[in-house]
Amino acid sequence: MKTDSLFSPFQLKSLNLKNRIVMAPMTRSFSPDGVPTDDVAVYYTKRAAGEVGLILSEGTVIDRPASSNDRNIPHFYGEKALAGWQNVINNVHSAGGSMGPQIWHMGVMDNHYSGWLPDAPFEGPSGLNRPGSENGQAMTDSDIADTITAFGKAAYHAKQLGFDCIEIHGAHGYLIDQFFWEKTNLRSDVYGGRSLPERSRFALEVIKEIRRQVGDDFALIIRLSQWKPADYNNKLAQTPQEMEAWLNPMAEAGVDIFHCSQRRFWEPEFEGSDLNFAGWAKKITGKPTITVGSVGLTGEFLAAFQGESSQPSSLDELLRRFDRGDFDLVAVGRPLLADPEWVQKIRDNRTGELKGFRKEALAELI
Ligand SMILES: Cc1cc2nc3c(=O)[nH]c(=O)nc-3n(C[C@H](O)[C@H](O)[C@H](O)COP(=O)(O)O)c2cc1C
Repeated sequence: MKTDSLFSPFQLKSLNLKNRIVMAPMTRSFSPDGVPTDDVAVYYTKRAAGEVGLILSEGTVIDRPASSNDRNIPHFYGEKALAGWQNVINNVHSAGGSMGPQIWHMGVMDNHYSGWLPDAPFEGPSGLNRPGSENGQAMTDSDIADTITAFGKAAYHAKQLGFDCIEIHGAHGYLIDQFFWEKTNLRSDVYGGRSLPERSRFALEVIKEIRRQVGDDFALIIRLSQWKPADYNNKLAQTPQEMEAWLNPMAEAGVDIFHCSQRRFWEPEFEGSDLNFAGWAKKITGKPTITVGSVGLTGEFLAAFQGESSQPSSLDELLRRFDRGDFDLVAVGRPLLADPEWVQKIRDNRTGELKGFRKEALAELI
């Protein structure tokens, strides 16, 4: 494999990356009571030493009483958790890496299997954790205003701590995505509506507040997915025109980079073209994009949670699309979770040393 093109630098505002490989955000639940430990710092620092271009942290939650359903998911608020993140970014920088936190509010969730519950009921646009199933409250106007403020504060802290960028988690059926999706957003006020642009109002207000807090020069990424955990085949935007009406206002509101989550990066987004989601998002907005989904692995990540193992696979199709200019950056999840040296192995063509992925890797923080 000739992977040289992935090893060219990338520069945008506060981001100065040595290569095009991004560590995808991956929840690890190794932060007791929301505080990232030294083990978490060591885990990320190994990826920085392993020459990952940009590390995106696991989703880390904002200061709302029910932003998380899991006691061990890191907070991005409060003195102790922010000190933990300071330790993470200092170590990552010392190892020559770049990093941004993925800022998250889960919205209405299933209860966690541990039995732990947050102090307040889950909150979301309409109290639904999936279509037709209620497990929380519909947010009031003041809940929405406070949540937007909390997103802004988290972004402000990210910049203060010295992170290189932030990513807003707007994908995978969590809070922001619950607003996007007509099946979980049944509101009849200004945050709901029949069209995707109407249901994007919450996201746009979050983006604008974050931009206000971090200024113009700090790189802002948003992660989006058409698919939902409750419906893998869902398309929020069914046509390129609908995608344009969804993404362009976000670009205007301050998004610099669209991180386009697919389960398999090679799947075309719309009929009549082989462009994937990141390809369309770049074509439509003119902004840089990140692709993701089963890069270098035979199987996809949700099946991995059920125990399916994956073997290493060729990067040829990825490189074909990258070299054609479809996207600017490539996010890699499970390969980097299992192996901090994955990037170096790819660069040096040490394909015989690539590990694949087994479910057991989820239980370790190596
Ligand atoms: C253990 C695990 C945790 C994940 N947690 C998150 C998360 O916190 N935020 C997010 O946006 N995606 C999350 N994802 C999805 C990944 O970022 C990525 O999109 C997915 O794993 C596909 O990439 P891969 O095929 O290279 O693993 C997670 C995936 C895994 C395997």
